[in-house]
Amino acid sequence: MGRRKMKTAHVFSFAVGFLLLFSFFLLLHVNNHLSSSSPSTIMDVVDTNKFASVHHRHTLTNSLLREHQHAATSPPRQSPPFSHSVLFPDWQVLVLSPAALVVDDHHHDDLSCVFHNGAASAARLAGTIPSSGRPAFLCTLPNSVRRLRPFYTPRLVRLGKILSRTEDAPPAASLMARWNRLAYESLSTARDVLVFAKGVNRPSVSRPAAELRCVFVDADGKTVAETDVTSSAQEVFRCPHPPDIIITTSDVRVSIRVLGEEESTISTVATYKPPPSLPASKTSTSTLCASTMVYNATKFLPEWIKYHSSVGVDKFVLYDNGSEDDLQSAAARLRDAGGYDVDVVYWPWPKTQEAAFSHAAAAHRDACAWMAFVDVDEFVFSPAWSGSDAPDRTLLGSLLPKNRTGPVGQVSIHCHEFGPSGRLAHPRGGVTQGYTCRTRAEKRHKSIVRPDAVDESLANSIHHFALDRSGKWETDWLRPGRAVVNHYKFQAWDEFRVKFRRRASSYVSDWTDRTNPGSNDRTPGLGFHPVEPEGWAGRFCEVNDTGLRDVTRRWFGGVGPGAKMEWEEE
Ligand SMILES: *[C@@H]1O[C@H](CO)[C@@H](O)[C@H](O)[C@H]1NC(C)=O
Ligand SMILES: *[C@@H]1O[C@H](CO)[C@@H](O)[C@H](O)[C@H]1NC(C)=O
Ligand SMILES: *[C@@H]1O[C@H](CO)[C@@H](O)[C@H](O)[C@H]1NC(C)=O
Ligand SMILES: *[C@@H]1O[C@H](CO)[C@@H](O)[C@H](O)[C@H]1NC(C)=O
Repeated sequence: MGRRKMKTAHVFSFAVGFLLLFSFFLLLHVNNHLSSSSPSTIMDVVDTNKFASVHHRHTLTNSLLREHQHAATSPPRQSPPFSHSVLFPDWQVLVLSPAALVVDDHHHDDLSCVFHNGAASAARLAGTIPSSGRPAFLCTLPNSVRRLRPFYTPRLVRLGKILSRTEDAPPAASLMARWNRLAYESLSTARDVLVFAKGVNRPSVSRPAAELRCVFVDADGKTVAETDVTSSAQEVFRCPHPPDIIITTSDVRVSIRVLGEEESTISTVATYKPPPSLPASKTSTSTLCASTMVYNATKFLPEWIKYHSSVGVDKFVLYDNGSEDDLQSAAARLRDAGGYDVDVVYWPWPKTQEAAFSHAAAAHRDACAWMAFVDVDEFVFSPAWSGSDAPDRTLLGSLLPKNRTGPVGQVSIHCHEFGPSGRLAHPRGGVTQGYTCRTRAEKRHKSIVRPDAVDESLANSIHHFALDRSGKWETDWLRPGRAVVNHYKFQAWDEFRVKFRRRASSYVSDWTDRTNPGSNDRTPGLGFHPVEPEGWAGRFCEVNDTGLRDVTRRWFGGVGPGAKMEWEEE
């Protein structure tokens, strides 16, 4: 062995030795660091402006240590499925606050999520979960936490005061759930429980109901009841209510168990509610409802609601996909000043538009005689209305069958897709005023559905529902001469660009995703990048169609120069 080689060997073994020694000290240090953690809680040190400087030592409280020890003794894969937080795409964390937290003041800006390594990020009050009535907050998972798996539910902290104490919850419940395998919501009807869950069925293949159970778990993660699943389609599962005994416990969650699978009970944030105590009111034979999912659509809402209300919609149910443009205030204004019946249902779950529509049909089965599923950029219109001087609340109803004992359970209407019509920005008078040029062909369709005719599975394609399989019901297709849906799909570039970044459907890929390039949901002529295509403003323009513009101008426009549409902002 030459001198040089020997030297290299020495250096090498020295390096290995040093590394081992170093690791040993590191371990010792970490161990020591953990066990000598000050018992002081976050409360002592938290100041929203100084989160970044908060040292680990202060934040690793005893309770958190217990959580870590628990996690070490019982591997996460066997942990109970109950959770208080969900990791969404883009490192967003949805935190469900304890029921006790009252969010009644205007200090939401002061809220933070503090994670188990002491890192913190701002928390935003995002909405109230329908089944539990609990406020939900969104915060970003800080960079320093992203490598520290498993992830734990952060604490919600306001100016040094801990609002949610994971130490009050059983340790296992503090693990963060993943959104792609999760029971995310439930709905109790008089007859049964609906469980909305991701990761059980594949888009085109639903597991047979016989392979599944509904599982009811308490806050300790203990199973308190199980019932058979009676229906399984898409992300919706139905099962009978469990016997009364379990209802005494305050926070019971419902989940889905896949028989014969390991880790078979999926994580749940879905609170179970016992059946409504009042008997369901008799099915309405006249109430016309409209339901849709919205994200940042506040700007479009007054026009859409005023128009549809004026032709006969009585009630609006908006599923809020995490809007950040103060949808609640806009809805409140429409309710208070306009007298419109507008419900907002917080529905933050990614890519779950079909499930939201199933929820709408089931939740309003008795209250709504018909429910139109049209988006905020879609307007139901009949050329026959063109001659009328004033809107009339019987107009929409006149497109639906009069005979409630007849066979029609769903009315489908073709869509016309409007282009930017030369516009470079959102038209001041609204979409009906600004977009007047469209493509020739009828594209797709939207439907007005009788919720009581919908199949028990609640399966839908957004465009229409599966009807009850007894054979009693049928779908009526309206000719375009009778009615159309004006779909303001390809708006001025700045509007179109933001809208198409976020796709709502579970089964449609994002436009930047190269799978399924020939899909109908893609925009013809558009690549995979949100860059304004040449000549955008003039595209999708084959037919000048001013039918709805002219009639709405007559119905809602003022007279004289500078006149505004009723829905136009001051
Ligand atoms: C939604 O609206 C808010 C408020 O106007 C804005 O800050 C946010 O960027 C919007 N989100 C998207 C994806 O455009
Ligand atoms: C309503 O439909 C039922 C079932 O198709 C039919 O028997 C009945 O005659 C219809 N009533 C009217 C008024 O058309
Ligand atoms: C709904 O929100 C989630 C999470 O922010 C997002 O991933 C999804 O694309 C949104 N869907 C719609 C309709 O905007
Ligand atoms: C629509 O009307 C405008 C103005 O009258 C006209 O310039 C344009 O060529 C028309 N477009 C189509 C597709 O008919």
